[in-house]
Amino acid sequence: MPLEKKIKELHEKRSRILLGGGEEAIGKQKAMGKRTARERIMALLDKDSFIEYDLFVEHDARDFGMDKKSLPSDGVIIGTGTILGTQVAIFAQDFTVAGGSLGLMHSRKIAKIMDHALKLRIPLIGINDSGGARIQEGVNSLAGYGEIFFRNTISSGVIPQISVILGPCAGGAVYSPALTDFVFVVDNISKMFITGPEVIKTVLGEEVSMEDLGGAKVHSEITGNAHFYARNEEECFSQIKQLLTFLPSDNTQKPPVYESADPLPSYVIEKIVPDDPTLPYDVRDVIKSVADNSDFFEIMELYAKNIVIGFGRIGGRTAGFVANQPIEMAGVLDVDSSDKAARFIRFCDAFNIPVVTFVDLPGYMPGIDQEHSGVIRHGAKVLYAYSEATVPKITVILRKAYGGGYIAMGSRHLRADFVFAWPTAEIAVMGPEGAANIIFRKEIMSSDDPESTRRKKVEEYKAKFANPYVAASKGYVDAVIEPAETRKILLHSMEVSENKMIQMPPKKHGIPPF
Ligand code: HXC
Repeated sequence: MPLEKKIKELHEKRSRILLGGGEEAIGKQKAMGKRTARERIMALLDKDSFIEYDLFVEHDARDFGMDKKSLPSDGVIIGTGTILGTQVAIFAQDFTVAGGSLGLMHSRKIAKIMDHALKLRIPLIGINDSGGARIQEGVNSLAGYGEIFFRNTISSGVIPQISVILGPCAGGAVYSPALTDFVFVVDNISKMFITGPEVIKTVLGEEVSMEDLGGAKVHSEITGNAHFYARNEEECFSQIKQLLTFLPSDNTQKPPVYESADPLPSYVIEKIVPDDPTLPYDVRDVIKSVADNSDFFEIMELYAKNIVIGFGRIGGRTAGFVANQPIEMAGVLDVDSSDKAARFIRFCDAFNIPVVTFVDLPGYMPGIDQEHSGVIRHGAKVLYAYSEATVPKITVILRKAYGGGYIAMGSRHLRADFVFAWPTAEIAVMGPEGAANIIFRKEIMSSDDPESTRRKKVEEYKAKFANPYVAASKGYVDAVIEPAETRKILLHSMEVSENKMIQMPPKKHGIPPF
């Protein structure tokens, strides 16, 4: 056959497969506000950059009438391409083909692109839109998931892994995103759960909607399974693009360096923190007052809001910001905020991103609820993550740094490279009120005017300890700085620690308080 004819044949074969599950299924997909798998890849990747592999792969299942069914590309598209010039590996499940369900060949395609990503040392992006394990393929589907989970785990900390939930992600399917670094969800489209409404009704007799069970809001606000929430697919893709600009392609590299730009004049640092230490302020404004162009890319914005995490740049270099949030529960550390911060610090450490910490917290959250929820174990994750991190660690104490909170939030004792404090910093075992009530209790009780004695003792305690100078006199704080000097000092700290190198004792791995 002449080449021309062979090429025509190739085009015909391709175009049949490119139709996916057919017009009806595509229409149903669109009616739900969803793009097709291929459209999603084209929208996310740079124009004409996508090269597809395994287009002609078909399933080889024989049971339950599968021998008579053709599933184009076995319901998943894989390939490589670029996003804003960065090479990435990607897969997108095609819900129009058997509900994007995962059979053996489908899973092998995903495993192939995961192997490529790891070997080529480029970020992996998985777009999930699937009914889960393909029921007709039995244990082969389960084996397929196992292969994916294994690869997610060994790639963890080597290449960035991003999961995008753009449809159902049911049953075993949820565990691959859960093992990746960042999970993106979209309002009304993402549905993530282990057991669906039908099963819940059968087993528990309860009626629940998919949205209430595992919609985008649920995972962004309540479970903490999602890191980014978007109103539609377009917004979601622009978030993914932005995220990638902060990251290196693998753990042997540093993140790309961009042009540096001063923060916007609207974020004047001295005006952000109120004089009255009992008044709250939004710590994100402090971050924006030091970050290049005041750009702060917040992660898990809707979950455990008492701690703020995210990326920004200082002098063009990526920094991972961790900051207590005084406008939310006074910025205390609790179970959820500890998990949120610890995981982020470990991500930064794995990918050579310096950690910049802003401290203002009254300590760990007291109460039976927190104790019973395991605040000891979860809180320990923060200590572990900071101690273990070998990337540059720069800490600025803004105001309160009491008790365990002082130690946990990137203190010198957990090997921060630089610890700075504003003159407003109060570094003590606990707040002056509580401290005076305990240590001067007898004196207060036996005095003629207990209330005025109490107030005097609080002031005495404040004068002695509620400042940064005791810590500075011991070298626990390197310098007490003016708020206006913060960006300059952070810039210098980032530059001077560019080649930081420390050796940890050799071990197979640590045992963090998971
Ligand atoms: C095979 C599936 C499928 C599955 C959907 N389909 N899920 N085929 N295996 N798991 C097929 C449907 O039969 C249908 O085929 C097409 O995909 C579209 O599905 P619909 O149900 O019509 O779509 P919709 O109404 O939008 O509902 C989507 C859904 C629902 C909510 C995802 O399909 C559903 O509940 N599926 C099962 C979800 C689930 O429980 N999965 C867990 C599997 S067990 P036709 O031919 O009619 O178009 C599991 C355990 C693994 O994953 C554990 C590993 C650790």
